[in-house]
Amino acid sequence: MSDPDKKLDLRRSELFDFHGVSMIHYVTDNWENIQNFQARPDDILIATYPKAGTTWVSYILDLLHFGQTSPERQTSIPIFKRVPFLEIYIPSMDTGVDLANNLPTSPRLIKTHYPVQFVPKSFWEQNCRIVYMARNAKDSVVSYFHFDHMNMLEPDPGDWSSYLHRFKEGKMVFGSWYDHVNGWWKKKQTYSNLHYMFFEDMVEDTGREIEKLCRFLGLSPSVEEKKQITSGVQFDKMKKNNMTNYSTVPVMDFKMSPFMRKGKVGDWKNHFTVAQSEEFDEGYKKKMKDPTLQFRTVV
Ligand code: A3P
Repeated sequence: MSDPDKKLDLRRSELFDFHGVSMIHYVTDNWENIQNFQARPDDILIATYPKAGTTWVSYILDLLHFGQTSPERQTSIPIFKRVPFLEIYIPSMDTGVDLANNLPTSPRLIKTHYPVQFVPKSFWEQNCRIVYMARNAKDSVVSYFHFDHMNMLEPDPGDWSSYLHRFKEGKMVFGSWYDHVNGWWKKKQTYSNLHYMFFEDMVEDTGREIEKLCRFLGLSPSVEEKKQITSGVQFDKMKKNNMTNYSTVPVMDFKMSPFMRKGKVGDWKNHFTVAQSEEFDEGYKKKMKDPTLQFRTVV
């Protein structure tokens, strides 16, 4: 359990190479316990590269599973406690593994940002359902840049142009965006219990994407319930909702940026110069060789 008397020692971290992926110690220090995590067959893993809309899909899954049966959790338990972040290990706070092990719900909803090769093997052995949400690279790097300013555990982001350079090199927490989205996409070809979805599709038509999620999860909520969920998870509502906007997290500095920042497709145009965009596109073409994996940067 966390110790409320112990003051949080918040420090920006340094990137280091961990089994070939750039990481920070807050997500590797508990490695043994994470790798030994015992998944259950009905666990649902929500996997994303950071800033792909993890909180959005977590909230939707929580509402789909527990919105009717335990409405009180919607006003009393922040989403990051309902859907623990498996690999997080911050001294004097509950670890992600402990939070996941202590979840009273069935199914348990668990979040990870790990690249596919780091996922504890019990998830595969138990054939757990996995929802992977991906977001286009340009909006991901912009969102990550703002997040790294406001999250005091992340490495110092520096200025935009050096940050963009680091992103292209894969020197981000959780490594290369390119490797992440491709690694998970490849896994989908051999592991059928994986639903791969896109942030851009969610923005375009949230209701349609919730329908697909329900089919994947084997759920059949009423038309009324689906309508309620679709409207309750819109950006403005989640931004105002203290249970989903992260306003209760001590490691985040909201003076720098809100967690629920813009929620748009195409905000990259307000950050990339024309030259940066062209250069980015050149590198992108070289790294994204699989024609079956396509992202949209506008909707
Ligand atoms: P922006 O920084 O572009 O606004 P994650 O939960 O993976 O950290 O992702 C956070 C990003 O998802 C943020 O992007 C946030 O605003 C966006 N997001 C969260 N909920 C959303 C919603 N309901 N609609 C649109 N975007 C949402």
